[in-house]
Amino acid sequence: MLYGFLSKIFNFFHLLKGHLIAFTYYFTLHIFFRKLGSNCCFQSFLRFGYVFRNIQVGNNCYFGIGLLLNCGSGSHIIIGDNVSINDYTFISSLYNVEIGDNTRIGEFVSIRDNDHSFTDSDVLIRLQGFSGKPIKIGSDVWIGRGVFIGKGVEIGDGAVIGANSVVTKSIPPFAVAVGSPAKVIKYRIKQDNKCLTAQ
Ligand SMILES: CC(C)(COP(=O)(O)OP(=O)(O)OC[C@H]1O[C@@H](n2cnc3c(N)ncnc32)[C@H](O)[C@@H]1OP(=O)(O)O)[C@@H](O)C(=O)NCCC(=O)NCCS
Repeated sequence: MLYGFLSKIFNFFHLLKGHLIAFTYYFTLHIFFRKLGSNCCFQSFLRFGYVFRNIQVGNNCYFGIGLLLNCGSGSHIIIGDNVSINDYTFISSLYNVEIGDNTRIGEFVSIRDNDHSFTDSDVLIRLQGFSGKPIKIGSDVWIGRGVFIGKGVEIGDGAVIGANSVVTKSIPPFAVAVGSPAKVIKYRIKQDNKCLTAQ
């Protein structure tokens, strides 16, 4: 009984905190977000690499704790409706990152559309700038915890990426891909009541 009561109080303040954070972002719109849809839920304040950048978020999105959204000048981060991004996920966009509706992203995921350039061994890596390509993640994608998604990757609608995978090449729609580097092991589309096995 006491446990239930305390749990209700805790939940109340937790909910209140979430609303206050959301209110802060709606109130300060255009400082942190170009667009923030309705009914978004924040477990804590996000970290932003920069302010006044083009970050667009749809409706009913969930953001866990410790998230970093790093959006460079001239690029965008577009997040669709009903997207869930779990704790300690980093999104770094210098060339554009797009995430489709209803996509689930686990904790400790790193989505980076850019790498340090390192071709010149006579120059410090930190002085060589960045190179990269846009990342596009489709709708209804499930990305497991600890996944890395690198520059130029497109992940098709309905794909599943296994935990701790390193995705360096594009993944087709409805594929299940696992490992480092991530390889397609099967497809979710049913045929004769069986998943298709990757060739
Ligand atoms: C990929 C996943 C969804 C399993 O899918 P599944 O269809 O049930 O696949 P299975 O468990 O049958 O595994 C198929 C094969 O892939 C391998 N595999 C599964 N997940 C893997 C992973 N993350 N990395 C490497 N290999 C993996 C299995 O070992 C198995 O290999 P085998 O055929 O040689 O025995 C699951 O393993 C996973 O990674 N879930 C993510 C969980 C998570 O991160 N949740 C938090 C975020 S919300």
